[in-house]
Amino acid sequence: EISNERFLWTEKDVKRTLPVRKPSSHKGSHGKALIIAGSKTMTGAPVLTTKACHRLGAGLVTLAIPDVAHEVVASQIIEATFHLCSSKNGEINDTHLSDKQLKDRYDAIAVGPGIGRNNTGSFLKTLLTDFQKPIIIDADGLYYLKRYISTLRTRGGATILTPHSGEFAFLINESIKTVEENRFSLSKQFAMQHGVYLLLKGPNTIVTTPTGNQFINPTGNSALAKGGSGDVLTGMVLALVMQQQDLQPAISNAAFLHGKAADILTSHGFSPLSVLASDLVEIMPQVLDRF
Ligand code: APR
Ligand code: MG
Repeated sequence: EISNERFLWTEKDVKRTLPVRKPSSHKGSHGKALIIAGSKTMTGAPVLTTKACHRLGAGLVTLAIPDVAHEVVASQIIEATFHLCSSKNGEINDTHLSDKQLKDRYDAIAVGPGIGRNNTGSFLKTLLTDFQKPIIIDADGLYYLKRYISTLRTRGGATILTPHSGEFAFLINESIKTVEENRFSLSKQFAMQHGVYLLLKGPNTIVTTPTGNQFINPTGNSALAKGGSGDVLTGMVLALVMQQQDLQPAISNAAFLHGKAADILTSHGFSPLSVLASDLVEIMPQVLDRF
């Protein structure tokens, strides 16, 4: 049966659903994440996504980046391990992830921040067909996804897309204006048609489930309108998706906490003009401490 519901995702919902860390837990209990991100000219995005993923409690994070970006990116991250991809045009050409790695090693994958648009993106098709667990696709990953969109319906694991209005407009061949005027109906139509979770960004981000339920995020402000804040969100979604079975609360909680970080900063002496994406990552311990 098709549901037609819209809900506000509140602080109470976050408190009710946020995963609790058991005293007996070890790093393997919180998920092994793979982030595929970055390029020669976009070295900040993978750093932000990886740090945000760690801050939200991921047990282990591996960052797959093109070989040409490794030194610069690795110099800014000490908590992750790296998987080097071959590059072309300064961007990932092939991830060289083995069947075994895709089958056994990782619990979820996020792909897209800073990967660029200058190759074929055929590695994305391989991931979509060979990886049977949750995949989060963001930014330029969504650009490549358009070529392989028909594979979504029959994927073996959940797919979570996190476009802003422009990226969503590109995916569905509509104008940004049309998207902005029909955010609820277009995201619902898309999520149900392709069987995906869709997080449509913007003030009042909407999370739509594959069955068409919609959850509106009340947090966040214009401090987030700055390059890099989306990359932080991707890492947060990835971390939470690995830590609970039910994906909608995981995705909605990421959006809520991301916005809350901006709200806390701007109500504690940060001008919205000055908030950096990395400040969101830095403040996350205090944000989580409230829940
Ligand atoms: N109010 C509340 N939230 C906002 C606002 C606002 N006025 N403006 C932006 N946000 C939030 C969005 O909801 C989203 O969570 O900030 C985040 C911005 O994410 P992106 O649009 O993906 O921005 P970002 O990724 O940081 O931009 C860098 O990546 O996706 C590409 O095309 C994008 O080139 C750009 C680059
Ligand atoms: Mg983005």
